[in-house]
Parts: sequence; structure tokens; C-alpha cells
Amino acid sequence: MDRIVVRGNGPLRGAVEVSGSKNAALALMASALLAPAESQLTNVPRLRDVNAMLELLTALGARAEWTGPHEVVIDASSVGELEAPYELVRKMRASFLVLGPLLARFGSARVSEPGGCAIGVRPVDQHLKGFEALGSKLRLDHGYVEATATRLRGASIAFDLNTVNGTQNVMMAACLAEGETVLENAAREPEVVELAEMLLRMGADLSGAGSDRIVIRGVESLRGVRHRVSGDRIEAGTLLAAGLATRGEVSVEGVDPAFLESTLEKLRACGATIETSPTGVRLASEGPIKAVRVVTAPFPGFPTDMQAQLMAVLTLAQGSSVVTERVFENRFMHVPELQRMGADIALSGRSAHVTGVRQLMGAPVMATDLRASAGLIVAGLAAEGDTVVSRVYHIDRGYERIEEKLRGLGADIRREG
Ligand code: UD1
Repeated sequence: MDRIVVRGNGPLRGAVEVSGSKNAALALMASALLAPAESQLTNVPRLRDVNAMLELLTALGARAEWTGPHEVVIDASSVGELEAPYELVRKMRASFLVLGPLLARFGSARVSEPGGCAIGVRPVDQHLKGFEALGSKLRLDHGYVEATATRLRGASIAFDLNTVNGTQNVMMAACLAEGETVLENAAREPEVVELAEMLLRMGADLSGAGSDRIVIRGVESLRGVRHRVSGDRIEAGTLLAAGLATRGEVSVEGVDPAFLESTLEKLRACGATIETSPTGVRLASEGPIKAVRVVTAPFPGFPTDMQAQLMAVLTLAQGSSVVTERVFENRFMHVPELQRMGADIALSGRSAHVTGVRQLMGAPVMATDLRASAGLIVAGLAAEGDTVVSRVYHIDRGYERIEEKLRGLGADIRREG
């Protein structure tokens, strides 16, 4: 099984192009199911998760394939199979996003429950609450959710908590419902806004995405579109964190800095100098890394998907930092691995108390989930000696050509089979 070997090699320096957003792309791909037509996505990242979604769409009867290095075509006119099987859904939770579009367009769907996940219990009750409110009958059958409805009807739905995929799933379904749907306490993440933009061009009638109240007026049908996926804000944040951890100077291009504000704010508080342009961010390190307090929260708060990478930076700060995880339970699996590298971290409930050390030491470590593995690579880049990260399939789920991109910045990083 592949391993990534990182050897601390001094400050990272240079510019790097960010790939398209994984999370945006997955939802956009699912939305193509809403129209009996062909949609084309460009700037799609070449990732395991994107391949998993292509496989699922193909299993549903769509023609879904790569048509260029970063271009995907999804022709959903031929969809005939309304079941998303366990073997495909278990590979990736975002597969559950096909339920809303299938139910809205065909009046029935059977999708495996995504089940548990390494980063805590992640239920889909809010998705289901939304579909039920839209008039769908739901049945849980042998690990599958079976949803049926003759035609969905608009409704007023207040989510009990902030859920990105839940908001997206119900928003997609409501586009083809009869009448008006109001989503309250909707997620405000850029990926929700981007999905809304694609839906609007597909012919949907909706407003309010980006606020916590989205209003959708159902239409009879939607059409296929061409859409360019925006740059990945988490990949950008990860590369900037690597720049700071190594005391380097890194520019990321191809991402809207407005999506990264809370991340940039924390990197600044850590002592980085940050300059933004409309399409990128430049980070320079000066002086020691400063300790900070950070609490993860839904957008526009600090993203949970950047927590492990920032923690890796903070292991090298002067003084004590507190990292509090409020979005997911059990998202500290990188902590024991960072400790193996000499980090001084004490866990207490939902908080990690990180006391900066002068130097991390390379060690064999294990990637436990996607962002945890990114945190370990950030730490490895700043450590003395070799860090061998195993189970790198996690990183391939969400980072395209990560070694190549980091090597372009001067990192000593390679993959071993
Ligand atoms: C998405 C992102 C993921 C990111 C997360 C939070 C994708 C593919 N993934 O995941 O990278 O870490 O947002 O920003 O876009 N919850 C419930 N019931 C539900 C739904 C969610 O209790 O029905 C809980 C979850 O367990 C979690 C919290 O709500 O504690 C937030 O989850 P959610 O925003 O739904 O995450 P995802 O959309 O799955």
C-alpha cells in the first residue's frame, strides 16, 4: 500500500495553483441528475472521491465520465436505476447527495445509509427531516433509505443544526417540488452558494443561498448546463498552513480569498503576513509562530476541515494554543500521530491544548482521515528527518497531485508503493 515520505527540507517557497473544490464538485455532480440532459463541469479535481461519484452516477444509468484532464460530462437523460448500493455509498458519504435529485425527478429512490464514519457519528436525520417535510414517505429497510413521493410539495423546513450536505440535498429536491420551500437555518458555506448558482442556470428559481434562509420556488423541469468548479478553499488553506509551518513564503492561485477569510485571519494571528488578490493569496512568515485559540464552526467560522492542518502549525508555536472542535465529535485522531512526532498536546473533551515545541521529529504515522492526513503532511514538512505517512488513500480522496504541488514549492516528498 502506498506511503508518502516527507523529509523536513526548510522553508517552502513559490507559487502553486489550487485545484477545483472537491466538496463543491461532488454536490454539483449530484445536481446533474435533476435534468434529463447533459451537463458539463470544468476545473474538476482528479480525485478518488470524484471517481467514486462518477461510478455511482454510472451505476444509476447516467453517462458520467472524464472528457478531459479536469472536465467531466454527466448525461442524466438515461438514468433508470434508482438505487445507490451500499458498496458505492460506503466509500463516500457525499453519495447520499443523489437521494434528493432522484426523489425529486423520479418520485422514488433507494439509497444506502452512509453509516458511521471515522470522524464521529454522522447521521443524515436532517436530510430525512427535509424530504419528509416535502411530502416524501420514508422507510428504512436493511440499511437503506427508501423514499417515495408522487410529487414533492414545497414546505417550510427549519434545520435543527447546520448541515452542508443536508442543505444541499433538500435544496436540490425542492427545485422540482410543487410550490415554495423555505429552508431556515440553512448552511451558508460557499459550496451551497455555488450549487445554487448552478441550479439557477439549470432553470431553478431560488434565492437566499449564502444566508441562513433559502427560498426555492419549484419548477417543472431543469436543463443541463456547463459550469466551472471554483478553487478548493481547503486545499488552499492547507498549502498556506504548510508555508507557515516551514516558515516559508507561499502563494496560492486559483481561489477566491473571500472563501478563506476565517483561515487567513487565524494564519495572521499566528504571525503570518497575508496579501490577497482577487484570485489568490500570498503568505510570508516573519518571526516566531504565535499561539492562538481557535474554535471550529460553520461558515463563515473557522472550518473543521482546516483544524488538523492548523493544529500542525500550532505544535511549533511559541506558547499554548487551544483548538476546540465544535462541528464533529471525535475529530482529533491526528493528535496521537502528532504526539509521535514530538508534539505536546493534551486533549480535554472537545478541546486540544497545544503547547508549542521547538522542533518536531519525523516518525512513522498513520493517516486516519482526509484532513488528518493533510495535517500530518504539514507537520512532516516542518519536522526534522523522515515522516512516513501510511494509509495515504485518505489523502488521495481530497488532494490532487499533492506531492507534485509541494515539490514545486521545494518540499522533499515522495510516494512509495
Ligand atoms: C460537509 C463536507 C465536509 C465538512 C462538513 C462540515 C462535503 C462532501 N463534505 O460534510 O468536508 O467537514 O461539511 O463543514 O461537502 N449532522 C447531523 N444530522 C444530519 C446532518 C449532519 O447531526 O442530518 C451533523 C454531523 O454529524 C456533524 C454536523 O452536523 O456533526 C455537520 O455536518 P454536515 O455539515 O452535514 O457535514 P457534511 O455535509 O456531511
